Amino acid sequence: MKAFDCRLEVVEAPADLNKNELSLLDQALKATEKAHAPYSDFHVGAAIQLEDGTFVLGCNQENSAYPSGLCAERVAFFTAGVQHTGKKIVGLAITARSGRHNDSGPAVPCGACLQVLREVEKRQDALIPVLLKGSGTTVWKAPGLVHFLPFSFDL
Ligand code: THU
Repeated sequence: MKAFDCRLEVVEAPADLNKNELSLLDQALKATEKAHAPYSDFHVGAAIQLEDGTFVLGCNQENSAYPSGLCAERVAFFTAGVQHTGKKIVGLAITARSGRHNDSGPAVPCGACLQVLREVEKRQDALIPVLLKGSGTTVWKAPGLVHFLPFSFDL
């Protein structure tokens, strides 16, 4: 069996990113500031870039009945699914900040989000480049969600 080659690049300084990557991260930061996270104090923002250049944002939406809330990534992807049906997603940035938890490093999407995001990647038959950033300067960069979840569920 051939091993999956997981390609994750650690970029130590955002200055090493290109203009488009920087603006995608900037959009994710804007989304992070919109998070409704009074229970966890863990604010997550996701920014999607569509093939026509449009940005679609998502942020975590918490609820006092905890499991009723939703992660930033799924808010963004489901919004794109209804507001921009059929348009290809060409980029994703996720940023996080918290007053209560360690937020210095990048926050990797949870397993449920990875399953959803990876299925979109398969459906559009094109990888979605990903950027992850916490409150520190380090950025994790991967060519697609498949590099985080190489073996996703399939029907
Ligand atoms: N959260 C996200 O928004 N994305 C993830 O991938 C992981 C976790 C949110 C859910 C909850 O509002 C808070 O972060 C703490 O778990």
